[in-house]
Amino acid sequence: MRRIAICNQKGGVGKTATAVNLSVGLSLAEKQVLLVDIDPQSNATSGLGIDYRSLEISVYDCLFEPALLEQAIIKTKWPCLSLLPSTPDLAGAEIELVEKENREARLRELLTVLSDKYEFIIIDCPPSLGLLTINGLVASNSVIIPIQCEYYALEGLEKLLKTLKAIKNGLNDNLVIEGILLTMFDARLNLAKDVVDDIQKRFPKAVFRTVIPRSVRVAEAPSYGKSVIHYEISSTGAQAYLNLTRELLNHA
Ligand SMILES: Nc1ncnc2c1ncn2[C@@H]1O[C@H](COP(=O)(O)OP(=O)(O)O)[C@@H](O)[C@H]1O
Ligand SMILES: [Mg+2]
Repeated sequence: MRRIAICNQKGGVGKTATAVNLSVGLSLAEKQVLLVDIDPQSNATSGLGIDYRSLEISVYDCLFEPALLEQAIIKTKWPCLSLLPSTPDLAGAEIELVEKENREARLRELLTVLSDKYEFIIIDCPPSLGLLTINGLVASNSVIIPIQCEYYALEGLEKLLKTLKAIKNGLNDNLVIEGILLTMFDARLNLAKDVVDDIQKRFPKAVFRTVIPRSVRVAEAPSYGKSVIHYEISSTGAQAYLNLTRELLNHA
């Protein structure tokens, strides 16, 4: 089972878009996929058309009561794709976990029982480096770092890389960087091209070849409760996420 965290403490860089669309791409390749939403904003949950207000059990409850896991997982209307949803309650976990035993590894322990059920677990992290994100990283074997092609793109990256190193050295020695993913690329802007060149030069081995373009369809899809792949498969955004899926499946 490959467990992949989608992580960047910056908000609005395309984490959730990547988590949702990569999960859907993998499910279309007939991989059994579980998307785990650990962001209290619940955007991955609503992005798959689930209204968190209708939920009685979510990942929040499972972190404190692991026996609820099976009940909390939702089979989506699409084949091979399940969701462990989040609700805004999860914001409280950031504080409530502090006093708990094994606070950094709660999610990992929760998910171990699923190892023969899913081939991929994709974890959508919140925009911070708090305990929820640490739980996401400790529960994963690899991490995808979405970076927006803009002027401040690399801001915060050093801190994130330091955090990843600390986690690798202390809590999860299996953790590797699956790749840096360049998102919201606008080919009309010289600046965006400069950012891409700069990052590719700095991290020649770590950057995915697939670059996700800025695409109105990617932004519209969540309001229909769908991935952009289901919403408009011919759009540049959908095609890019399918290419990313292919590239990921080709990683050893
Ligand atoms: N490739 C893209 N093109 C256009 N809009 C995008 C793209 N990726 C994400 N968005 C939009 O940008 C906003 C932030 O993206 P999101 O995936 O929610 O970021 P994060 O999870 O990192 O906060 C959302 O409104 C989303 O719909
Ligand atoms: Mg998000």
